[in-house]
Amino acid sequence: MDKIKIFAPATVANVSCAFDILGFALESVGDEMIISKLAEKKITISLEEGSNLPLAPEKNVAGVVAQAMLDKANANFGIHIHIDKRIKPGSGIGSSAASSAGTAYALNKLLGNIFTDTELIEFAMLGEALASGIPHADNVAPAILGGFALARSTHPLDVIKIPAPQELYCTVIHPQIEVKTENSRKILKKNILLKNAVSQWGNIAGLIAGLYRNDYDLIGRSLDDKIVEPVRSILIPLFSELKQAFLKAGALGGGISGSGPSVFALSKGKNRAQKVADAMNDVYAKTGVDYDIHLSKINEQGVIELK
Ligand code: HSE
Repeated sequence: MDKIKIFAPATVANVSCAFDILGFALESVGDEMIISKLAEKKITISLEEGSNLPLAPEKNVAGVVAQAMLDKANANFGIHIHIDKRIKPGSGIGSSAASSAGTAYALNKLLGNIFTDTELIEFAMLGEALASGIPHADNVAPAILGGFALARSTHPLDVIKIPAPQELYCTVIHPQIEVKTENSRKILKKNILLKNAVSQWGNIAGLIAGLYRNDYDLIGRSLDDKIVEPVRSILIPLFSELKQAFLKAGALGGGISGSGPSVFALSKGKNRAQKVADAMNDVYAKTGVDYDIHLSKINEQGVIELK
């Protein structure tokens, strides 16, 4: 195989209460990439029009991931990476993760599937470290594995795929303002109150139990973040109005997607998720801020090869 085209999904990290340890993949939005072998041992990158990411491999998350994999594999070829970036950087739905995970998956195919999924997640985390300063796995793990993925630990990496109930849908609103993960991490408090920690780990455990038991109400009750959301929500125009509106429209719950500014809500069934989309639209139509709304089932496959 000399060339591969892939779809790398957008992802929602944190899932409200589970900061840095849980994320899930979306079906309806993601990047497309074509990775081709070069005879010369070098990495070149090109972008579909409209994107202005760095092209120097050492400054581009895809380039950094690819270099680490080629080095580790002692490969005798180089690659060209073409990225059709459909997830805007700084959107909060795993833009850097999609490029990183997409590269890891695709290059592994070109190398003859020599790396395990865990190794691919570790390579993709190098892209996250370049993008945000922290090699978090809560976007790249679900991007590679699909579904919900729990990163119990990153050192050593211990990732567990969690099943998603069949009727679980996600609605995401992406206000078109850029929030850099690096910056939205800087504003977080370094210490937290024990009572908030207790509430948070109760919710994380409840969320995981709800996903395993197909218990939509338990999932909803568990989507409550006492630690990160109160700090980061100030970066998102009309966050509390959005939250009130999606809960009133019948969403199970939701919160900030990743480091924002996107906001997600989970619902039981597509019709409910559409009502939630309409409610989000009503709130944002008045703001003058441009926005996109995505509605998606949970993507169980993660990165896939496109024929
Ligand atoms: N867990 C990361 C954060 C996700 O919230 O900073 C960034 O997409």
